Amino acid sequence: MYSVQNLISLISESGSLQPSKIIPILIKTKYPLPPGPPPLPIVGNLHQMSRSETWKQLVKLHEQYGPILTLKLGTRTIILLQTRAAVGDLLEKKAKFYSSRPRLITAGEHFTRSLLPVLMPYNDKWKELHAIRGLVLSHRVAKAVTCIQQSASRYLAFCLLDPKAEGDQSGGVNLGDAFCMYSCTSISTILYGDDIGSMSISEARQMDLIVQKLIKSLNNHNVLLDLFPFLEKTPGLSQLLTHQATPYFTELRTFFDAKLQTALARPCWTMSRTLAEKSPRRDRGSGDHDQLIFTTGEISMAGAATTPLALGALATMATLHPAEVGILRAQLDLLVGPDRVPTFADTEDLPYLHALINEALRLKTITPLGVPHAISSSPSDGPQVYKGYHIPDDAFVTPFQWAINRDPSVFADPHSFIPQRWLDSDNDTKNPLPLPSLFGFGKRFCAGQPFAGNALATALAVLVWGFTFEALSGFEGGDDDYRFVYHLVDTLLKDMKSEVSRCAWQ
Ligand code: HEM
Repeated sequence: MYSVQNLISLISESGSLQPSKIIPILIKTKYPLPPGPPPLPIVGNLHQMSRSETWKQLVKLHEQYGPILTLKLGTRTIILLQTRAAVGDLLEKKAKFYSSRPRLITAGEHFTRSLLPVLMPYNDKWKELHAIRGLVLSHRVAKAVTCIQQSASRYLAFCLLDPKAEGDQSGGVNLGDAFCMYSCTSISTILYGDDIGSMSISEARQMDLIVQKLIKSLNNHNVLLDLFPFLEKTPGLSQLLTHQATPYFTELRTFFDAKLQTALARPCWTMSRTLAEKSPRRDRGSGDHDQLIFTTGEISMAGAATTPLALGALATMATLHPAEVGILRAQLDLLVGPDRVPTFADTEDLPYLHALINEALRLKTITPLGVPHAISSSPSDGPQVYKGYHIPDDAFVTPFQWAINRDPSVFADPHSFIPQRWLDSDNDTKNPLPLPSLFGFGKRFCAGQPFAGNALATALAVLVWGFTFEALSGFEGGDDDYRFVYHLVDTLLKDMKSEVSRCAWQ
């Protein structure tokens, strides 16, 4: 996902805040911007941004300036919302205005030619695509395809038991690869009609790589255009970007077009077929076909980019908190026993499983800075003002999900791992706590959340039922360790793989 964090982390090497080179914001408006560290002309606060563990630095800034914070990255304005209340007031209650996306020159316009719905502004085209997408990404469809996720979870276990079994010649699977394959094979079966198990590790890796390349499209000189859009007209810069973006666009289009064509030629139901049939613009030219490729491809990419990270967070939790995971294993032993593999239906009778997932993802929020929203209002609506502050139209309005998930006024002892907080006194899930902030807000709320939730529950049940996660000596990741967010899942999990036991798998 394209996020403010990418912008921040890819720009600055500097790890510390430089004290007060105070240059006042020059533009005067009736309402001030929300407070923030004083920016320098042109670069704004870029020189002050830490490259790693950005959220910890941002928490300190919020302590200093309050829950609504302004940062200037180049000429772009970032408004960070640190509380559930602020996010609710703007992104949910005022969703009519706060459901667009900021202009994303590199990833949005050049690398994907404005065809990825997730990066589109809140306009008629996005609304139309979102409505069609809603037909296949509903709770009802998610429930109907749990059997596919169930089969995929068995395949995941099978691959972990016998790393060579899926035919990969490159030296077997580690947990990170296996999680990637679980997500990719599940979504490809639902979306394109592929067979579970027909996907090789290398194809899953290719899907993952496509997403990573998009994130990395924000490398040093490309990001300049996003931070300083006025440079767009600079001779050479835009051409350089096009030169890099064209091969990527072609790779993306070719890969997902092949998957789409195969899906449409199949006699069975697939999400792609429904999306193609319901698209009112179909058969009206190659532009509409490209849109279909990217609408379907985005669903694939969204699954490939996020669910493996979330599974990485769950595996790390399982390693760090064996006692809590032991409670779930005991419940699985009672409910399922040793003679059959857990099913999706079993997960519905295991409130503690959902409590573990909530707590693990609350502490290891895999989307710490969410995905930025932007305002779409007409001049007649007047300026957007919140609590006396002006929220500019071109700002990246960013939900700081990491901080929201550790808000002490909502979560007692917020930095501790306490799955029980999600259960009531009957050990049921009727708990008044708001669910962890992971999937965004308002009209742009994650379209695939029901699929993701079912995929995580099914996989965790099978993994805890059949395997033990133990860290090798030297593994130092704690609840605060966020290295996996920077795609180091493999590094962390490789260490753990050799400790996977096969207790119930004889
Ligand atoms: C644990 C897994 C996942 C997480 C944490 C996650 C998180 C997110 C977030 C934070 C957003 C942006 C929300 C906003 O702008 O406020 C988003 C958007 C989206 N997600 Fe997910 N997601 C996950 C899994 C999935 C899956 C499996 C799918 C597809 C089946 C999916 C499909 C989408 C789509 C299509 C959008 C774009 C919505 C738009 O057009 O703006 N996501 N997701």
